[in-house]
Parts: sequence; structure tokens; C-alpha cells
Amino acid sequence: MALTIVAYLRSHGKLPNRAKEVDAEPVSFGDARKGKLWFKEICVACHGDKGEGYGAGVVGTAIGKSGFLNKVSDGFIRETIKHGRSNTRMRGFSGADGLANLRDSEIEDVIAYLRSLGDQHNRAR
Ligand code: HEC
Repeated sequence: MALTIVAYLRSHGKLPNRAKEVDAEPVSFGDARKGKLWFKEICVACHGDKGEGYGAGVVGTAIGKSGFLNKVSDGFIRETIKHGRSNTRMRGFSGADGLANLRDSEIEDVIAYLRSLGDQHNRAR
């Protein structure tokens, strides 16, 4: 199943039709305050201070905006953080060859922080 998810993520450039198994994953249980620290340390360089994306002169997408957050499940965000996107500067964040070796619980914290940026309430879909 993990391979299916990776293949799925790689086959979609931008916002995908959400794959069932990814969206069926549990909602994030992270701690946004801790996630903020990781976000500042790792993600801001490419996604902007509050995840504004390209508009802020960075290479990454607007992951802190509701236009993105409204459309994606926690599972989608989780798998993207873990596995990255092939052929882009978004590399995975788990395992020794990741951009940073985040533990699963730390990835959950980052998701919680992202949700707090968008202040979204439609987490479970
Ligand atoms: C080295 C630059 C870089 C870093 C660091 C980085 N990203 Fe990315 N990220 C990107 C790029 C570039 C994309 C767009 C990939 C694409 O074209 O599909 C992306 C895409 C994403 C997406 C998918 C967005 C979408 O529109 O589908 C998510 C979610 C994401 N990043 C989360 C994170 C998080 C969380 C962190 C910090 C833990 C992080 N990224 C750190 C460069 C980066």
C-alpha cells in the first residue's frame, strides 16, 4: 500500500483527485506549537514564513493558504511530507536520505501547525 501511495503522489503534479487510501488515513493528532518550530526551521526556506508560497519569492507552493488546505486531507499532507515529490525540490522528510529525518510524531506536529495557519475545520473528510 505504501508503494501505491508513493506512485500516486508522483503521478500528480499539483492538486490531485484525492486517492481513497490516502484520504482514509487518520486525521492528524499533532501539537501545532511544536510543529511551528519544525516549520520555521525546515519549511519556511522554501514555502515562506506562513506558507505563502511563490508570492513570497520562494520555490515552494502555498501550503499555508486555505486554497490548498481546504482541498487536501491530512493523509495527503502526511504522505507528501514523508515521501516528497519526485523531480522537485520537495524531497521526503523521513528516513536517512530525507531532507530532514522527521519522526512520524514530528510530521503530525507539522500538519497540526499547517492546519492552524489555514484555520481550517474540515479536517476529517
Ligand atoms: C528545498 C525546498 C523545500 C523544502 C525545505 C520544503 N518543501 Fe515542500 N515543496 C517544495 C516544492 C518545490 C513543492 C512543489 C512540488 C511540486 O511541484 O509538486 C513542495 C510541495 C509541498 C507540498 C505539496 C503542496 C501541493 O500543492 O500539493 C506539501 C504539503 C509540502 N511541500 C510540505 C512541506 C513541509 C511541511 C515542509 C517542511 C517540513 C516542506 N514542504 C519543506 C519545496 C520544499
